[in-house]
Amino acid sequence: MRVLMASSEVHPYSKTGGLGDMVAGLAKTLAKKGHNVGIVTPLYRGIREKHSDVRRADWHMSVQLGKRRVSGELWVQEPMPGLTLYFVGQPEFFNRQGIYSEGGSDYGDNAERFIFFSKAVVHLARYLPWQPEVIHVHDWQVGMVPLLLRQEQHASGWRSPPPVMLTIHNLAYQGTFAANAFQLTNIPWQQFNIRTAEFYGAMDCLKAGIAASDVITTVSPRYAREITTEEFGCGLDGLLRERIKVLHGVLNGVDYEEWNPAADVHLPVRYTATTLEAKELVKRELLKEIGLPVKARVPLFGTITRLAEQKGLDLLVPALDEMLAHNEMQFVVLGSGEQRYERALHHLEKKHPGKVGVRIGYNHALSHRIEAACDFYLMPSRFEPCGLNQLYSLRYGTIPVVRAVGGLDDSVIDAQENTQDATGIKFSEYSPAALAHAIRKALALYAAPQAFHQFRVNAMAADFSWDQTANRYLDLYQPKR
Ligand code: ADP
Ligand code: GLC
Repeated sequence: MRVLMASSEVHPYSKTGGLGDMVAGLAKTLAKKGHNVGIVTPLYRGIREKHSDVRRADWHMSVQLGKRRVSGELWVQEPMPGLTLYFVGQPEFFNRQGIYSEGGSDYGDNAERFIFFSKAVVHLARYLPWQPEVIHVHDWQVGMVPLLLRQEQHASGWRSPPPVMLTIHNLAYQGTFAANAFQLTNIPWQQFNIRTAEFYGAMDCLKAGIAASDVITTVSPRYAREITTEEFGCGLDGLLRERIKVLHGVLNGVDYEEWNPAADVHLPVRYTATTLEAKELVKRELLKEIGLPVKARVPLFGTITRLAEQKGLDLLVPALDEMLAHNEMQFVVLGSGEQRYERALHHLEKKHPGKVGVRIGYNHALSHRIEAACDFYLMPSRFEPCGLNQLYSLRYGTIPVVRAVGGLDDSVIDAQENTQDATGIKFSEYSPAALAHAIRKALALYAAPQAFHQFRVNAMAADFSWDQTANRYLDLYQPKR
């Protein structure tokens, strides 16, 4: 098939979370299977410097953005046969320090930036000589694409635009702006209503995508069910229930070329399920790197995360505070985001000297080392559409301790579900006490070497490779209209 994807993040060019990993992993797998894949993404600052083979294409692009005309450059790269990256260059919008925000606040012109980008996607969907058969858009930043595609069809006699699939990676981010931002679309004002982009008087980009896409997917089966309920629906559960016939949950895959402890270039030594002694060495080296004392038989817990409400930091900090006070255990965290969480973590570090290591910032290589070094990985999310770190943890023999929601519930097996095949520890209630209880179970497991070893072996054998998942997308790319 010929597939054109559109995403505001693509690993290794740009990434703030799992979106970039997912888009890159799916695209690469489809290309390997012999399909023709293009990914449209913004040309952010630094991409050309890091990837010298990104080259300027001889292509002119100019779109109407409300009252003004904005032109864009096109830059391309072919990292492997069958896969082409189309970087949309627009220095005013994308040559900035951040992707969505700077210094903790969102850019004031995000509506302009991403409606412009969405129009560039429609332009390429129409004019790329290889004529994509399906357009696959990801998250709110390109949520307007299906409406804009219809507009282009009516306004300029485009006979049969391709069908559009929208993947929702996170319903909590909808791209909501004041209603007058709809003028940027140049779609007639009468079409701004609750059947399209209007959400309580505001413009909602993700809602527009949910209303107008041919197929909707989200990144785990359980999250697909959750978002049709009021509790997880973020106000869009009614619309999602209306669209339930075209709503599918597909668990993300993992790029095991990148996340593989047997070949990970970021580790001091590599290991497999039969050489787990080497994992101990990785742990010792990480403790030294972070500046924590190395002691024999003290379990190491860790997490790598956006410091955002979603990730359950209001459980993590009090639960760890209690557990660290009474137990021989250590904890490392790598994260960036909201300052209130940074402060809480630093406070924890001060209060439990020698037991807590906090690294604020974004650090890809360190994230690999933490995945490999820890004994347990903590993910007490309030909600989690899929979650990738628990999947990476499994492959690294790092036992995930997760809240049973969304993709976390779909990907981790607790001993209560299946003693033989257990890969992790789950808890349900959203409370520090419930997480502390789960950590207590982890400590007990660590104290029982045989059982702990069995969990590790099970975890490392779990298979979340992209191959089957990509086939599922291929099926869904052919909607019955
Ligand atoms: P989300 O997309 O909601 O943030 P996921 O678990 O799907 O959660 O994906 C998060 C991705 O971002 C993982 O690849 C994780 O390693 C990475 N990540 C998050 N924070 C950091 C950080 N501070 N440094 C390096 N990588 C990070
Ligand atoms: C989102 C979700 C996360 C998911 C990722 C990739 O950022 O929060 O759960 O794994 O997208 O699909």
